[in-house]
Amino acid sequence: MSQATSTAPNSMTTYRRLLHYAAPYWRRFLVAVIAMMVYAALGPAFAKLIQPLIDGSFVNNDPSVLRIAPLVLIGLSIVRGIAGFGGDYYSGWVSRRVITDLRKDMFDQFLNLPCATYDRSSSGQLMSQLLFNTEQVAESLTNGIMGIFRDGLTIIGLIALMVYENVQLSLVLLIVGPLLGISISRVSKRFRSISRRIQESMGHVGHVAQEAIDAQRIVKVFNGKTYEANKFDQENELNFQRYMKRIATEAFAGSAIQLIYVSGFAAVLYVVSLDAVRSSITPGSLISFIAAMSMMLSPIKRVANLANVVQRGIAAGGSIFELLDSGRECDTGTIELPRVAGQVEYRRVSLAYQEDGDTVLTDIDLSIPQGKTIALVGHSGSGKTSLIRLLPRLYEPTAGEIRVDGVNIRDLALANLRHHIAYVGQEVTLFNDTIANNIGYGSRGTTTREQIREAAIAAHALSFIESLPEGFDTRVGEQGILLSGGQRQRIASARALLKNAPILILDEATSALDAESERHVQQALETLMQNRTTLVIAHRLSTIQRADQIHVMKDGRIIETGTHDELMQRQSHYGELYRLQFGKDAVPT
Ligand SMILES: Nc1ncnc2c1ncn2[C@@H]1O[C@H](COP(=O)(O)OP(=O)(O)OP(=O)(O)O)[C@@H](O)[C@H]1O
Ligand SMILES: [Mg+2]
Repeated sequence: MSQATSTAPNSMTTYRRLLHYAAPYWRRFLVAVIAMMVYAALGPAFAKLIQPLIDGSFVNNDPSVLRIAPLVLIGLSIVRGIAGFGGDYYSGWVSRRVITDLRKDMFDQFLNLPCATYDRSSSGQLMSQLLFNTEQVAESLTNGIMGIFRDGLTIIGLIALMVYENVQLSLVLLIVGPLLGISISRVSKRFRSISRRIQESMGHVGHVAQEAIDAQRIVKVFNGKTYEANKFDQENELNFQRYMKRIATEAFAGSAIQLIYVSGFAAVLYVVSLDAVRSSITPGSLISFIAAMSMMLSPIKRVANLANVVQRGIAAGGSIFELLDSGRECDTGTIELPRVAGQVEYRRVSLAYQEDGDTVLTDIDLSIPQGKTIALVGHSGSGKTSLIRLLPRLYEPTAGEIRVDGVNIRDLALANLRHHIAYVGQEVTLFNDTIANNIGYGSRGTTTREQIREAAIAAHALSFIESLPEGFDTRVGEQGILLSGGQRQRIASARALLKNAPILILDEATSALDAESERHVQQALETLMQNRTTLVIAHRLSTIQRADQIHVMKDGRIIETGTHDELMQRQSHYGELYRLQFGKDAVPT
């Protein structure tokens, strides 16, 4: 999915898909196109006007022509002005609409990407897709297509006028035209490759910046400012260079086109100097012809530049569609259980995060009766977190199956499965919102303030919440940064309590809290675990001792199972772990 690895998608397909996004708005699109056509058609009309003006007034000595001319001029300008406005407005409308729709689809895709995809991509790059690439598409749609339409038509109209005024002179176009065509298509190819590289580079700039912003505390404490600044400089400079390549190409194309064009002009002047030609053309026609030819320069230059804009859009659209086409979380199950008792079973479950990667879990068999608590213990990296992640299907097992109340969780609708599970993670995730909304996150719309308050009481969070300046309406800052670690955990417990799901997953924080907080958090979790099937990755002695069964993990396998007392009596891995964690003298309480 990262832009760096993507292959260049077929540009026609990409453009067709972009147009597909515009299809629902075809009426406005049509209005824009018609307005453009009117606008384009009126361009040559100005040039045409010169011929009767000059031939009429000076050659045929009829000054009345000059008297109508200002009126016609103003009339034409008004119509052209309205058409120009309509064209710009509606093409702008359609392209902004397409971008809004594209962003909506992209965001929806973000929400549905599997965890594994997120593991492989950087959030900075995804953000750059959402913000930067879509803008490229917008520009390509309005300025690109519409511009080509408008300027293309203007050029065609002017050519028609030139042919009409004098066929012989127009033959010059047969030489100039192909030359221009070739150079524009050459340049356009180069634009596409440059555009892809600019996008890629925007992604990297976003990625480095996002990382430094997210990790700003670590950057400060570990004196990483210079390192981060250098990293950013590198990407930023690369971005500058790539943009300069585009600007150079643009400028070169402009000059080259001008040169070819002026050569054409010179050829016309030369041809006119020939007696045979001069006698066949009136001064009015000649000036009209030359006016038409000079009016062509700007649209031709713009069309050449538009090729660049369109290529940018194609490159951006390509990587956007690649993102939209990347796989979503598998959600093929159809069973919807209104309620589950909470009996959970793992049957010979194995997991490898990457297809050809190491097996992280091997043959896990677990059976948790309804309402019971199992504790997972084991060294760091033994697979505890991996094991519990499989239950809400954050990752899919590579072998084996997991059942809830006897139903394979793959057969359940994903939302239904997750409806029955509450989760308190090792790292508490809070949203930059009020405390009330954070607690009510999993049960939006169905909870009253009173229920939120009750959950806060049960989670031992009420006293600190009430001491905050705005109580439940206090905003907690990004990632809940305005709260202490223990406070965050109690909010997370309240959130899980309020969800009131029959299955609870608990990844206990390893970070030590002070005795007071620890007691509060502990009590909150104990309330939470009552009458729920609980899978807990336990670091606290009291949690481990309370568990109905303890599973000891090592290298992705469950190597011992039993209660605390049973395991302590055996010469077990557990005993070793226990002494390591709680010290030789730790006495079970
Ligand atoms: N998202 C991931 N992608 C690839 N490999 C992963 C991913 N998460 C974990 N792993 C690997 O899986 C193995 C088990 O990790 P896991 O997080 O399950 O350990 P853990 O028992 O929870 O450790 P800890 O007690 O430190 O939290 C580790 O070797 C780790 O490198
Ligand atoms: Mg873990």
